[in-house]
Amino acid sequence: MEIEINLAEPEKRKAPQFEELAFGKIFTPHMFVMKYEADKGWHSPKIQPLSHIELHPAAIVLHYAQTVFEGLKAYYGVDGKIRFFRIWDHIARLNRSADRLCIPQVEPEFTFKAIKTLVSIDRDWIPKKKGAALYIRPLIFATQANLGLKVSCEYLFVIILSPVGAYYKEGFNPVKIYVTTEYIRACPGGTGEVKTGGNYAASLKAQDLAHKMGYTQVLWLDAKEQKYVEEVGSMNIFFYFESELVTPSLTGSILPGITRDSVLKLAPKLGIPVKERKISIDEVIESIEKGTLKECFGTGTAAVISPVGEIHYKGRSYLINEGKIGEITKMLFDYITGIQYGEKEDLFNWTVLLED
Ligand code: COI
Repeated sequence: MEIEINLAEPEKRKAPQFEELAFGKIFTPHMFVMKYEADKGWHSPKIQPLSHIELHPAAIVLHYAQTVFEGLKAYYGVDGKIRFFRIWDHIARLNRSADRLCIPQVEPEFTFKAIKTLVSIDRDWIPKKKGAALYIRPLIFATQANLGLKVSCEYLFVIILSPVGAYYKEGFNPVKIYVTTEYIRACPGGTGEVKTGGNYAASLKAQDLAHKMGYTQVLWLDAKEQKYVEEVGSMNIFFYFESELVTPSLTGSILPGITRDSVLKLAPKLGIPVKERKISIDEVIESIEKGTLKECFGTGTAAVISPVGEIHYKGRSYLINEGKIGEITKMLFDYITGIQYGEKEDLFNWTVLLED
């Protein structure tokens, strides 16, 4: 399929000088859009000036949340080359999420072409500073006007781009997380392992309470027993107990994070033993009390690797590594970002150049 291209006015295409970049607040001047209709399949792909989207008020997505999204980044490397990080894995996950939400699959090669073309058009908007990147947000949502609960016959696939800095206002400084025993993010058989808006909507109440108490994020426990650590909603979680790095095994209600997987693959190469297993919140608290939990960090595309310096559980706050960034956390952060910015050897061929 050919992508029709309609460029924004030259004035609007000029990238501003990026000073302090926050996360997801500014957008590049173009977007990709493609329609789906049951009898035609995906059709009419376009890159056009960024604009609002017209939706019927009965669009299925607005009522029943039939939607999926992805988040990946393009980096301006130290060598001036632009790299995507694990783009094929993000496209594959988009299709896995789509399958769970009964949304039609998108063709991976074509999706790659759409992202590449859009990023190439807005390439001047890729921040040139280490720590900043171009965040790519593909999303697909149900547009059919119908108040009956059913699988939509019509969809829109949109890709927007946002120059971003650190996800948390703390930057690479330790964040504080709050373990909720009141709310649940996801349960077995639910949608916790895919990227769909509903998971994030369900997390807002607890996140809001955590914020009001001075915590950055919520640490979610399993739905059945409220015993095992799952994830932090905007990132997966890792603990460094004495000499072993561990992360919760994927149970079906945890998002299979791509940065999580990168840490699992990279850690052994850096001489850090790593394991996926069940981790109870009691083990975490006891290890902090005994002094055997040395470090804790979260992983995510937006969050990259974020040190966790404090955990609040059942009315008490526990400091981890005296609230400082740990050595293992720093080593993994440096290596992953080193690959993303073209400074370190890409041992697993995770990066794809915008232009070969
Ligand atoms: C990402 O890390 O890309 C996400 O989609 C998480 C979101 C809460 C920003």
